[in-house]
Amino acid sequence: MKAPDFQRGDRLRHVVFSGQFTPAMLSELAETADMIRLLSKSRGGQDFLRNLLSHRRAMLYFTQPSTRTFLSFMAACQILGITCNEVRDPSTSSETKGETRFDSIRMFSSYFDLIIMRSPVAKLAESCAYLMNDLERSGQRSVPLINAGSGADEHPTQALLDIYTLQRTFNFENPRDSPGGDKLERLRQMPGYGDLTKGLENKTYAFCGDIGRGRTVRSLAMLLAAYEGVRLVFISPDHPKLRIREDLKQRLADRGVPVYELDSFEAHLDGKPVIEQVDALYMTRVQKEHDDPEDAESMAAIDTLKYRLTPELVARMRLYTPILHPFPRDQHFGEIPPEVDDDPRAMYFRQARNGMWVRAALLAHVMDVDHAIARHFFET
Ligand code: CP
Repeated sequence: MKAPDFQRGDRLRHVVFSGQFTPAMLSELAETADMIRLLSKSRGGQDFLRNLLSHRRAMLYFTQPSTRTFLSFMAACQILGITCNEVRDPSTSSETKGETRFDSIRMFSSYFDLIIMRSPVAKLAESCAYLMNDLERSGQRSVPLINAGSGADEHPTQALLDIYTLQRTFNFENPRDSPGGDKLERLRQMPGYGDLTKGLENKTYAFCGDIGRGRTVRSLAMLLAAYEGVRLVFISPDHPKLRIREDLKQRLADRGVPVYELDSFEAHLDGKPVIEQVDALYMTRVQKEHDDPEDAESMAAIDTLKYRLTPELVARMRLYTPILHPFPRDQHFGEIPPEVDDDPRAMYFRQARNGMWVRAALLAHVMDVDHAIARHFFET
């Protein structure tokens, strides 16, 4: 997979993997997202946004369960006036009559101007984006395609909202935005925050839980690797299915990113328990849907209690360290208990709402109306 295959000049044609985004593109997306969120505060701003793409239609092809990604993409489409239709249940599609997924996708491109797809099949979005490229080359109808999660492989738009949340946390102030709400303001007043370098650079980011099967971890780690001075810590059970996969480790090594593999919050980094040492913590759910029967015994032997972020652990974290989670969290596993939700560092609900703004910004980029938004923003 090569980023240029899915670009047209300096624009993204298809969004397939997180490595397509540079820090400069991420900053531009964050600026567009900030403008959309501010314009959305007024009726006039909402009307302007809704008129931008009211002549466009999107297909949301989600054949794997989703709450946040599906609904935030739908809300993002509505913000920009795009009409949405959906296929969520494959049993209602003609694939049950033997139609291939590629024929289905090609049909969508006949009726819609954009395809947003989630699938349990790894790399399906990538293959479909290549199909669109082939159609384009042969002069046939082809539309942009956005990967909303593929197998255990990639979830690039989740990584965009994770980055946007971190940008808002570590950018000290958003010149075009309101201060960011009480919670973010409280975080910015915390001891140690003022000593940080502005932006995402020069920080230690930790991921905890099911690292091996978490597509959000893979996509976000590759985006963070593009920033200077970043260290990545992966805290997971020492189990072949759960620890960081070799291919990701290699890609991070190729970028010169220091990677630390630890098996608990108490393991040491720089001579202290890692829980006390990180600048941002990304918790994840154990993805039981990917369990193989042959792993049942070895999985059952894992001391899962070690991977729950208890209020006692939160009390030992740096006072400014944001806690993120792509969600859903697992109420049975309890990787983040609800007692943590009111802590100013708990960013996960804010993170989910950020998904709507940054996905709207991404749609504006792909459908080429982001410059119109900026012009309107600065002229009014
Ligand atoms: N984070 C995420 O992808 O959530 P959903 O599965 O609910 O879309």
